Amino acid sequence: MNYQEILRRGESFLKKNKIKNPFLDSELILSKVINKKREEILLNASTKVKNTDIKKFNKYILRRRQKEPMAYILGYKHFWKYKFLTNKSVLIPRPDTELVIEETLKYLPINNSKKILDIGTGSGCIIVSLLKERPKCIATAIDLSKKAINVAKSNAKLHQLENKINFINIDIDKYNSYNYDLIISNPPYINSVELSRLDDDVIIHEPKSALSGGLDGFKEIKKVIKKSKKLLKINGKLIFEIGERQKYRCLEILYKNGFFVNKISKDLSGKDRCVISTKLK
Ligand SMILES: C[S@@+](CC[C@H](N)C(=O)[O-])C[C@H]1O[C@@H](n2cnc3c(N)ncnc32)[C@H](O)[C@@H]1O
Repeated sequence: MNYQEILRRGESFLKKNKIKNPFLDSELILSKVINKKREEILLNASTKVKNTDIKKFNKYILRRRQKEPMAYILGYKHFWKYKFLTNKSVLIPRPDTELVIEETLKYLPINNSKKILDIGTGSGCIIVSLLKERPKCIATAIDLSKKAINVAKSNAKLHQLENKINFINIDIDKYNSYNYDLIISNPPYINSVELSRLDDDVIIHEPKSALSGGLDGFKEIKKVIKKSKKLLKINGKLIFEIGERQKYRCLEILYKNGFFVNKISKDLSGKDRCVISTKLK
């Protein structure tokens, strides 16, 4: 079987099983298996595939049929300007979360050396991307999942930041180190009704603890706000991602906890997705 034939076979199998983007996925899987760029595959369509590679290809295609996300099959996902290692222990970095990076950079002058805390670091995509842009800053990144912390550490190493970020496997409830200039977070914020309606790719394969914000979606957001009140310096910033219908309740919780709200930033489709706030007292 040659490259073209195996690609078509993968595509038609995925299509029959109602997987979106069957050709692209088939191509990306073949590219992983034979360790060649997609362009090389298309230019060498009649090259034969080794039997061992056919077996590997079939194994990955079957995983995709089970709706396993491509980021877990390939083992990476691009986010901001970088590539991040991903496996089923971490939420797959989402393009939406790049808004947190964009907004945070506006409040972090390039030559300032700020002390940053990332709550619920997951793959480490937020803190690693920020520190690549602001190399004078230092950071702590926490997560209650030990396996997520291991992935985040690998990503920090991949991007030569292992000496700049201190990773801690801890629940935010138990973390008590003070004097941060900036806290960032993409907390789990999906309520239980929305959780039950998520696509199979997400609900079957991504970690529930990275998605679920409890019954009303605010369980972890509240923790982040209350804890940030204690851990931030006065005038320190708290910047975090929210779900599209969470703005007003978030404002209430922030005001109740002594924060000033600088801005709620919208994504490209006009939805409120990123809160920028300041601890006043
Ligand atoms: C929505 S994911 C965000 C991951 C990553 N920051 C990103 O933006 O892709 C939330 C993360 O918070 C972690 N988490 C959930 N509850 C937590 C808690 N109480 N304390 C610390 N981390 C928590 C989860 O394990 C998960 O990795």
